[in-house]
Amino acid sequence: MEIEPPTMKLFKGVINSLRGEAGFRYIARAREIARAGFKVINFGVGQPDVPTFQHIVDEAKRALDGGFTGYTETSGIPELRAAIAEYLNDRYGSDVKADELIVTPGAKPAIFLAIASYIEPGDEVIVPEPSFPAYPEIVRFLGAKPVYVPLKWLGEDRGFELDLDGIERAVTNRTKMIVINNPHNPTGALFNSKQIDEVYRIAVENKLLILADEIYDNFLYDESRLRSFISFADWRDHLLYVNGFSKTFSMTGWRLGYLVARGEVASKITRLAVNIWSCATSFVQKAGIVALKGSWKPIEDMIRLFEKRRNLAIEKLREIKGVEVWPSKGTFYLFPYMGSILRSIGMSSEQFVEQLVERKHVIVLPGTVFPERAGAEFIRISFALNDGAIAEGIERLKSFIVELTEGKEEKLQASINS
Ligand SMILES: Cc1ncc(COP(=O)(O)O)c(C=O)c1O
Repeated sequence: MEIEPPTMKLFKGVINSLRGEAGFRYIARAREIARAGFKVINFGVGQPDVPTFQHIVDEAKRALDGGFTGYTETSGIPELRAAIAEYLNDRYGSDVKADELIVTPGAKPAIFLAIASYIEPGDEVIVPEPSFPAYPEIVRFLGAKPVYVPLKWLGEDRGFELDLDGIERAVTNRTKMIVINNPHNPTGALFNSKQIDEVYRIAVENKLLILADEIYDNFLYDESRLRSFISFADWRDHLLYVNGFSKTFSMTGWRLGYLVARGEVASKITRLAVNIWSCATSFVQKAGIVALKGSWKPIEDMIRLFEKRRNLAIEKLREIKGVEVWPSKGTFYLFPYMGSILRSIGMSSEQFVEQLVERKHVIVLPGTVFPERAGAEFIRISFALNDGAIAEGIERLKSFIVELTEGKEEKLQASINS
């Protein structure tokens, strides 16, 4: 009889039930196709396509050469914490102090710390859907329940909104937290100040915490402004705030983020961090200071470049019959509505995306990876690609849709009208 090694039994049921970030699966498939010699166009990426800005790289090198390679304070080196507090306060008129934040190895660990420090089995956490998948997965890992409230899709002229009535109705006596990601992955929505103020009111009235993830706070278009949760005067009583360096400074692989919380909360949360990762990487923290305090010109140039790419992608997508696309106000994603096309060809968004990869070597993500049903009739397209790739990729998408809908034009038109 074969004996199962004991290590194979160590997986708790809950770990077995966790979903990975499904986006990574499609990206792995893209690599296989590229290895087979095909030119893949990857709209699945969740990072800027530019390398980390040179002055940041130079500072990391200096820190390494200078031997800054040991452990640091768990909550982060004081100069970096001061620089982060200054960044938030300058930008959002807040009054965050350096000892009210913890530097983390990326924003994801900050999300984990925030949720794990408050949520107990049986608790409920309200998550607008579609959503970045890490929030509900961590909630489930802790034995609690993510309660999804779908965003409202108001069509290609008005985009996406929070369903405030839905959020209010979802509150029960088990609800502990509302998660708001703004600007929003995957839809590119920027929830306006009225909506943010209302969420805040709901949280305050029901004694709930808000977990605010504003990691895309610099990716704003059409001169939009972000109403940051950190700018509320009494944020200390209601807020766990996450941000990071991955997107703004194109530092996804460096792993640097942070969590802001009231002083005694921050210091308690640090106890969990010290037992897991001790500290964020020392020389990366030095580079983080230069990222915040150095020139912002290259970052601003990148954002303006992304705005042009967004416009190009919108123009091209709108040439495809049946695709409804709203110009994102934030992030570097578009989330076009594909429902009319999918209905007319009888495909799910997953089937559509899988065939698009195999037949046209173009990667987009199905809305269902965020993480369940609300995005089922949408796909996510990242426009962090050069103009040539955007144009060619959308051309291939168009020809794919034309082939699929050939002979079904009437059905498609009926579907668009309905
Ligand atoms: C909304 C959101 N939060 C957090 C993260 C994770 O950031 P990091 O790579 O710093 O862990 C991402 C990355 O895709 C994201 O989209």
